[in-house]
Amino acid sequence: MPNEVAMIAGTIGPDIGYYIKTALPNIKLYLVDVVEEPLKNAQKRFEGYAKKAVESKKMKEDKAKEVLANIVFHHGLQPDQELRSGDRSGHRKHSSQAEDL
Ligand SMILES: NC(=O)c1ccc[n+]([C@@H]2O[C@H](COP(=O)([O-])OP(=O)(O)OC[C@H]3O[C@@H](n4cnc5c(N)ncnc54)[C@H](O)[C@@H]3O)[C@@H](O)[C@H]2O)c1
Repeated sequence: MPNEVAMIAGTIGPDIGYYIKTALPNIKLYLVDVVEEPLKNAQKRFEGYAKKAVESKKMKEDKAKEVLANIVFHHGLQPDQELRSGDRSGHRKHSSQAEDL
């Protein structure tokens, strides 16, 4: 079982990522995009989904906190770069990360 997953944000990436985080809340999720807007939308969507799940009592608050933790919104992956665990040199992180909320 991996302990880190990275995926392109785009339109559908956040939904796939949220599903993964609800199934495996302790996994570290990197949502990556060269455009900043999908990353901002992804962060809003994650928070909205978790809030709704807690309000409708489908998820406990503790779990929602776990789901929203360990997410890196990563802006600027270039085609010739790859994300490697423990080596983020040359990559820019989006200014806000869900783990900081
Ligand atoms: N749409 C689906 O049904 C579906 C199903 C399963 C998996 N996926 C996967 O989800 C991810 C997003 O798909 P989508 O349908 O939302 O696509 P999309 O076309 O909406 O978004 C693609 C995104 O990729 C970004 N991008 C392009 N080149 C890049 C690069 N070199 N580095 C980083 N980002 C780059 C673009 O800025 C764009 O926001 C993809 O990895 C796709 O394979 C999509």
